[in-house]
Amino acid sequence: MEIKCKEIAREVKKIRVRKFEDKDVEVENTSLLEMIGKGRQGAVFKINEQACMKVYGEVEDCAREYYALSLGKNTDLLPKVYCKGKNFIVMEMVYGVDLREYLQSNPLTKELSYKLIQMLITFQKIGYERIDHHKRQIYLQEDGSLKVIDVGRTVWRNRTYPYPRKLLQSLGTEYKALFLEHVKELAPELYDEWQHYMHLEEISRQVYQKLQEKQKIDFDTLRKQTETLLTTSDSKLHYKKLLGLVRKVVKEERVRERMKLQKNSNELKLKYDKKEQKMKKERKERKMKNHEKDLTETREDKSFETNQKPKEKKERVKIYIEDSVKEHSNYARIYNKK
Ligand SMILES: Nc1ncnc2c1ncn2[C@@H]1O[C@H](COP(=O)(O)OP(=O)(O)OP(=O)(O)O)[C@@H](O)[C@H]1O
Ligand SMILES: [Mg+2]
Repeated sequence: MEIKCKEIAREVKKIRVRKFEDKDVEVENTSLLEMIGKGRQGAVFKINEQACMKVYGEVEDCAREYYALSLGKNTDLLPKVYCKGKNFIVMEMVYGVDLREYLQSNPLTKELSYKLIQMLITFQKIGYERIDHHKRQIYLQEDGSLKVIDVGRTVWRNRTYPYPRKLLQSLGTEYKALFLEHVKELAPELYDEWQHYMHLEEISRQVYQKLQEKQKIDFDTLRKQTETLLTTSDSKLHYKKLLGLVRKVVKEERVRERMKLQKNSNELKLKYDKKEQKMKKERKERKMKNHEKDLTETREDKSFETNQKPKEKKERVKIYIEDSVKEHSNYARIYNKK
């Protein structure tokens, strides 16, 4: 059967859906479409035997559910989408009986539990953040397969849970226990993990209760108890505490000053050492220069005496060494004679 999206888009304009905080949407419908159901986020209208249209109170809810439906478009678990507008989605009509109704007169068999576990696996596989669903949103179809509706809350979540809380709670005490028994048999590791989380959940509930009780007792008595910490009403005690406080301040300030002085003197010493080293270096250089000057003058004198030209530096050093050797051997001769 053909779905005429343009015609449907015109018809939607005759439908007003308003969302509220904690009740189902309110609907004004002047179109010819029949409403077949509604919830907190939208109202659903029959288009024909094959398709229905969900009109949302808020466009974000529409975008979110459209995204969630598109994640599962290659599975058989979700209704097929035919067209989408800003505030509506035209999707496949889901038939069959929802599990809330079904379980009222039928048992929860191991086969059905198996299908529910497979549904959770598919949710995980297609990328749903919350792999959980209420039993009234799960439909058992004539051929025995499952289909789920209302998947908007499975994506774009801040809070997610590590086990299917909503599904388990919605099953009620008896069926929850039976379903868990089936999980234990079919997937023991998964069962252990769920038990672990359920146990922690119970503990956190108990801790919260305890904290609430404690807080009450504390609030009532704390004011009275803190009186023992007060000091200003007793003048002697007040003075003693004040004195102690001021002494502490003075002590701290002295330490701070001492540290500052120490730091300054270290810096001064460092400066002095650097200067001293520089001066030493300069003195040494000066000495070297003078010595070299002396050498040059000595050689120049000698060359003057012998009417010779001043010699090259290398030559002058050689002469100086030879002279020194001569002088030394003269000196040795004199000394040996003695
Ligand atoms: N694809 C569908 N085929 C047949 N019926 C549908 C379909 N989608 C929704 N419905 C009917 O419309 C009702 C409301 O739809 P739905 O649960 O998606 O609305 P909702 O506002 O998102 O609900 P909730 O408050 O749980 O979020 C359903 O309970 C069901 O009866
Ligand atoms: Mg919903």
